[in-house]
Amino acid sequence: MRMSARQNVPAVGVGLLGLGVVGSAVAKAVLSQDESKQREIPLALVCAVVRDLHKKRSIDLDQSILSDDPQAVIGNTSVGIVVELMGGEYPAFDYIASSLEAGKHVVTANKEVMCKRGDELLRIAVDNNVELQYEASVGGGIPIIGPLTNDLAANRIQSIRAIINGTTNFMLTKMAHEAADFDAVLAEAQSLGYAEADPTADVDGFDPMYKLSVLTRLAYHTEMPIDGIHREGIRDIHVKDFRYASELGYTIKLLAAAQTHGESGLLARVHPALIPLEVPMAAVNGVLNAVEVEGDLVGSLWFQGPGAGAEPTASAVVGDILKITESSGNNSYRSAAFASFKISSMDDHVCQYYMRLTASDQPGVLANVARVLGDAGISISAVLQKDTDIEKTQADLVIMTHPAREANMQTAVSLIRKLETVIRMDNLIRVENYTGRLQKRTLL
Ligand code: NAP
Ligand code: HSE
Repeated sequence: MRMSARQNVPAVGVGLLGLGVVGSAVAKAVLSQDESKQREIPLALVCAVVRDLHKKRSIDLDQSILSDDPQAVIGNTSVGIVVELMGGEYPAFDYIASSLEAGKHVVTANKEVMCKRGDELLRIAVDNNVELQYEASVGGGIPIIGPLTNDLAANRIQSIRAIINGTTNFMLTKMAHEAADFDAVLAEAQSLGYAEADPTADVDGFDPMYKLSVLTRLAYHTEMPIDGIHREGIRDIHVKDFRYASELGYTIKLLAAAQTHGESGLLARVHPALIPLEVPMAAVNGVLNAVEVEGDLVGSLWFQGPGAGAEPTASAVVGDILKITESSGNNSYRSAAFASFKISSMDDHVCQYYMRLTASDQPGVLANVARVLGDAGISISAVLQKDTDIEKTQADLVIMTHPAREANMQTAVSLIRKLETVIRMDNLIRVENYTGRLQKRTLL
């Protein structure tokens, strides 16, 4: 172990697995922590493992620190804390497990591995008497893993409702406020370092699904496998949906939610949702994330902050590193195995729906759609109709329903698609239920 020149206190060696967007910011922060000389236990950046040794990097590190061999970190006796910032399940799982088994503490920002293999890794950490910290894996710079693990442990959590993907929130905000083009705004999110290596993980809702699974394990002490989470991304959202939603008093967000359901059910879902303009979630814009937690003792809590980006994520990663150097070996593992919840089906979810379809602009169209909805026991709360071509042969028909069961709505949608006067069913978006909110004016 290297010694600190300033106090003769041995420095804790940090080894990075990954030196990309987050890894580079963490390397800078570790070096500046060392320079600031404010800590009793200094940190030393020992090694950074990358895939491509010749890549140009945003940080100027001594070449001798770089390696393309993971053993340069995992098998290095000068490394006390391994920081995994590569992403993905493999080989991250193997590298984290080997590091823990080698007696090293691990910090990771990897939600995918913590979702799919988190319980296993946390047990390996306990068995080897080392720590595995993962604050940066959900919500970027927002402290949410720590509060759910420790500070809120006395609560029965009733619901979690969150915006936990910075990339899509950035994209949706630009689409709402600037009518931005989907592909252009995705490229911008990538250039800002928000998006995953494969941005479909963001756009198709995988990233927030992994994060929701991690939060659910902590909040409900139960495993929430990804096939138990209903998942939809934002590909079908069009700029015109924001216009129509706004006329009805809403905006659109990619929401991740988990809530107790009936006696012992737990319903977890990730999908775009209409959010009433007057609730705080509607004003969470750009790369900001927000997590709303409802506990039986504490009531409603609200966490908000930058959910992606190099520095905010480095804040959480380096915070975890310092937590390890300053703790006396406390392990924050909580077993996920003691609560028994039944995973509820999305079919049983009840909410209002926004439906946009392209219809022939002729008499009887609305009556046909209304009849199908009525037959499924679904009543309409509002209707907007806008001509979409100069000849007035087609129209956008936007229908807002009263609360309906998902299974009934899906049956009705499959029948509406078959109506001769319906050219296309463009979008079906759920309306998030905020109790106590004023009922919207019925326009029909
Ligand atoms: P990134 O920019 O793509 O960086 C990944 C790094 O890992 C690169 O340095 C890459 O090497 C290295 N790497 C990948 N596979 C490797 C392998 N098999 N062996 C050795 N090195 C390998 O990713 P990032 O945005 O920094 O994200 C890193 C992690 O943080 C991910 O789990 C991500 O989900 C999470 N996270 C990211 C953000 C964010 O805003 N970006 C926020 C919160 C959490 P090369 O440089 O040589 O290619
Ligand atoms: N791609 C992720 C996001 C990074 O956009 O939220 C933070 O986990």
